[in-house]
Amino acid sequence: MSGYKVKDIKMAEDGEKHIYWAERHMPVLGMVKDRFKEEKPLNGLRIAACLHVTKETAVLIKTLLEGGAVVSLAAANPLSTQDHVAAALAAIGVHIFAWKGESAEEYYENIDKALSIEPDIVLDDGGDLNVRVHVNRSELANKILGGCEETTTGVIRALALEKDGILKYPIIAVNEATTKSRFDNVYGTGQSTIDGIIRATNILFAGKTVVVAGYGRCGYGIAWKSRALGANVIVTEVDPVKALMAAMDGFRVLPMSEACKIGDIFITATGNKDVIRGEHILVMKDGAILANAGHFNVEISVNDLNKLAVDKRRLRPHVDEYILENGRRVYLLAEGRVVNLVAAEGHPSEVMDMSFSNQALCVEYIAKNHEKLGVGVHKVPVEVDMMVAKLKLATMGIVIDKLSEEQKKYLKSWSIGT
Ligand code: ADE
Repeated sequence: MSGYKVKDIKMAEDGEKHIYWAERHMPVLGMVKDRFKEEKPLNGLRIAACLHVTKETAVLIKTLLEGGAVVSLAAANPLSTQDHVAAALAAIGVHIFAWKGESAEEYYENIDKALSIEPDIVLDDGGDLNVRVHVNRSELANKILGGCEETTTGVIRALALEKDGILKYPIIAVNEATTKSRFDNVYGTGQSTIDGIIRATNILFAGKTVVVAGYGRCGYGIAWKSRALGANVIVTEVDPVKALMAAMDGFRVLPMSEACKIGDIFITATGNKDVIRGEHILVMKDGAILANAGHFNVEISVNDLNKLAVDKRRLRPHVDEYILENGRRVYLLAEGRVVNLVAAEGHPSEVMDMSFSNQALCVEYIAKNHEKLGVGVHKVPVEVDMMVAKLKLATMGIVIDKLSEEQKKYLKSWSIGT
C-alpha cells in the first residue's frame, strides 16, 4: 500500500508555508538535514512513523527523506493533525494517512496503512504503533531493525513490553535524552499547554487558582508558566519527593479531594488514569475548566463527566459545557485529549528542534548499529545527546567555558582534600 489519505490536498501550499516557518526555527535539525542530504545514511530504508502531524514533525520527516528513506506517517492522536501540514507532506511523496478528527477505528486503520510499507525502522509517540506491531501485526516485527520512542507514556509501554517478554526489537527511548525531556517536557509542555487553554478559552490566568495534577517534568513546566502569568498554583501529587519539590518551589500541595473545591482551572499531567473523577467534579466551582496535558485522554474521567451531566453542548471550538444536576457548569477542553496539540500547535519549533534532532540522529544510529543493539529499551547514546546540546548552544550564539587539563585531572582525582 502506498499513497496518502488527508483531509484536502489543496491545503498543501498553506502547509508548506507553515513548514517553512518551523524550519526557520529548527536550525539544529536543519544541520542534520544538510548532512543527511550529503551522506544519505538512510538509503534504502523504509521508516513508518506514528507522530503528531505538525509543522515540526514535517521538518523531521523531510530530514529522513533527505537521508534517503521512504517514509510513511500516521497521527499519534485522532485530534492532533494539522491538516495543511498533512497535505504538504502528501504532496512531497510521504505515505501519509492522517486528518484532524479521526474516529478510533480510522486512527488504527491509518496506523495499519502506515505499517503497510513494511518498515525497517519505526518512530512512535505514545506506543500505539509499537503495540499494534506486537499485538496485531507481529509478522512485521522480525524485519524491524529498531524503533525510537518520543514520549514518557510510550517509554513506559515499551518497558512494559520488554518486562513481559513481548518486545521483539530494540527501542531507543528518545524521551530520556537530557536534551529532550529537560526541555521539551518542561518548556515545551509548559508553554504549549497554556497556549492551548488560552486559544480555546481566552481565559485570564492572572488571579486564577490553577490546579496542576502531577509534578513530573511536564507538570513542573505547567506550574511555573501558570505562576508566571499570575495564577495561584496548587499541585497534587502521589510521589512524596515530587510533592516536596513542589512545596519547596513555593506551590501549595493538596490532595485532589481538597484542590477540586477551590480550583478555577485544572490541568492534568500525570500519565495516569482517573486523576479527576466524578467525586471531584461534583464539588467543583461553577465555571471550572478542565484540561489534560498527558498523552492519553484517560486522566480526566470523561465517562464520569458524561454520567453526571444532565446536558452538554459545544460552546466554542474545543470547549464543551457540561451542566451538572446541581446546576453547576464545568468546561472540558479538547475532549480531555492533549490540549496543547488539539487546541494549539503543540510545542514550539525551537524546542522540537532538539527533540527531533535526537530522533533523526537515533534513526541514523539504528541504521548503522542495529546489529549491536539487542532487543530491549535503550538509552540515547550520550554522544548524540551532547551533540544536540552543543549544536543548539551554537545556534543560539552561546559560548561556554572549557575545562583546563588541570581541572580535568582534578575532577578525576581523590588525593586533594582539605
Ligand atoms: N509533541 C508536542 N508538541 C509537538 C509538536 N509541535 N510536534 C510534534 N509532536 C509534538
